[in-house]
Amino acid sequence: MKETYAGVRARGGEVEELARRRGFLWQAYEIYGGEAGFYDYGPLGARLKRQLENEWRLFYSLEGFYEIESPNIAPGEVFRASGHLNCFTDLSVVCKGCNSFFRVDAANGIVAGGKCPECGGELVAAGEFNLMFQTRIGVPGGDVEGEKGEGYLRPETAQGMFVNFQRLLRFNRDKLPFGVIQVGKAYRNEISPRQSLIRLREFTMAEAEVFVDPRDKDSHPGFDTVKASVVLIDPAEGEGGALSIEDAVRSGVIANEYLGYHIAKVKEFLEKVGIPGERLRFRQHRKDEMAHYARDCWDAEFLSERYGWMEIVGIADRGDYDLSAHAASSKEELSVHTPDGKIIPHVIEPSYGIDRIIYAILESSYGEEQVGKDKRRVLHLRPALAPVKVAVFPLLNREELKREAREVFHVVRRELIYVEYDDSGSIGRRYRRQDEIGTPCCVTIDYQTLDDRTVTIRNRETMEQRRAAIDGLVRELKKEMERIRDSHV
Ligand code: ATP
Ligand code: GLY
Repeated sequence: MKETYAGVRARGGEVEELARRRGFLWQAYEIYGGEAGFYDYGPLGARLKRQLENEWRLFYSLEGFYEIESPNIAPGEVFRASGHLNCFTDLSVVCKGCNSFFRVDAANGIVAGGKCPECGGELVAAGEFNLMFQTRIGVPGGDVEGEKGEGYLRPETAQGMFVNFQRLLRFNRDKLPFGVIQVGKAYRNEISPRQSLIRLREFTMAEAEVFVDPRDKDSHPGFDTVKASVVLIDPAEGEGGALSIEDAVRSGVIANEYLGYHIAKVKEFLEKVGIPGERLRFRQHRKDEMAHYARDCWDAEFLSERYGWMEIVGIADRGDYDLSAHAASSKEELSVHTPDGKIIPHVIEPSYGIDRIIYAILESSYGEEQVGKDKRRVLHLRPALAPVKVAVFPLLNREELKREAREVFHVVRRELIYVEYDDSGSIGRRYRRQDEIGTPCCVTIDYQTLDDRTVTIRNRETMEQRRAAIDGLVRELKKEMERIRDSHV
């Protein structure tokens, strides 16, 4: 497989190598040479991803938002109305030397007249490229002939929530504000998907659409709970820096309380899943980089050792753009009756890219240290995200220890589920293997176990071992994992 990267930094590379080798993720369709922009999550990666998505669901369920699930494919009229068929484009350049196409990226000098990052050749303008994946609904010549058969894969989950607005409003008893969430695949035919999970053609989004009366945007009922939160702000105009959410909103740097509240919540979530706050900033879009539907947009950016600042979440004020567009196109009424008239709600939207967040988590949780002649590689994952929670070992490869260890393994697995048994290789190597995939606790069975029914529990962070009784072992393991979780805070 050929993957090329501009400006490779060694450490980012080691994380990606580890992720491939240990079964987290790899480029899809490897046996056919790989297809750029498509990735497989392997046995450990799929678990990590699912647990991250569930953390996200719980986080926004605490806001009182309900989740829906809408189709990945929509008829053309949906994306004609939403503006995606006309406006969802990127500018491209092509290299005169090697004929590679690139998405214009001014920050990295990938512009017409610039140099090709692959071969150094001259880049020339190659026009606008629409990112929508087109497909066909139904049999050609059947009952969905012509424009009706034109289908598209969704480039965001959001439209599924807008087109269902009437039903969702009714579900929420015709009252604003309310929020709806969706986690699912999105598809974009990206021009140059060369950076592992960062730019995929099929990726997972987790989006919340918050519908609010435009007159209430300046008073979020939960604002007091987030106002002291300090975020690094990079506004489109004027001074930024580390500001409390309250100061940023009161001084007008952030336009209203709803946006401020959701920016603070994004930071809270990203820190909760293990991305250090000091590697996060919120950058406001300039007018000329804003998506067609947005009137204001802030990106949560992660400072990657490998890729520099990169967007991982977008928080947009979409105003009434989408509901008005679908109302006009479908001739349905997508508004709310209030005591003093009829209004079209505004939408505040935190839009998370799950794959980029996984990259950020892996990169920021990866650590290595020299232990004697060996390199110890550790993923300092939050226990809630670790794909394996506990590994159980016999100290030595002896039948009586293995028998006991297997019994302990079955007992622990019944409750903690994601538990492994391993009796191959030296005990040191087995610990290293678990450290590398971020397993919080290892349990070792030795000869003392046979005498007094105690085992050792090893903590991934401190590498300390302590003895605990087999009776009540699961409780002790949970405590140890809480200790690890709290040591990150
Ligand atoms: P970029 O400017 O990097 O293309 P974007 O502004 O188009 O990103 P949004 O449309 O705001 O991204 O999408 C919301 C989130 O979805 C992003 O913050 C990112 O995490 C994720 N995302 C967008 N495009 C991709 C992609 N091609 N591959 C993986 N994740 C993506
Ligand atoms: N839903 C946010 C985006 O697609 O940009």
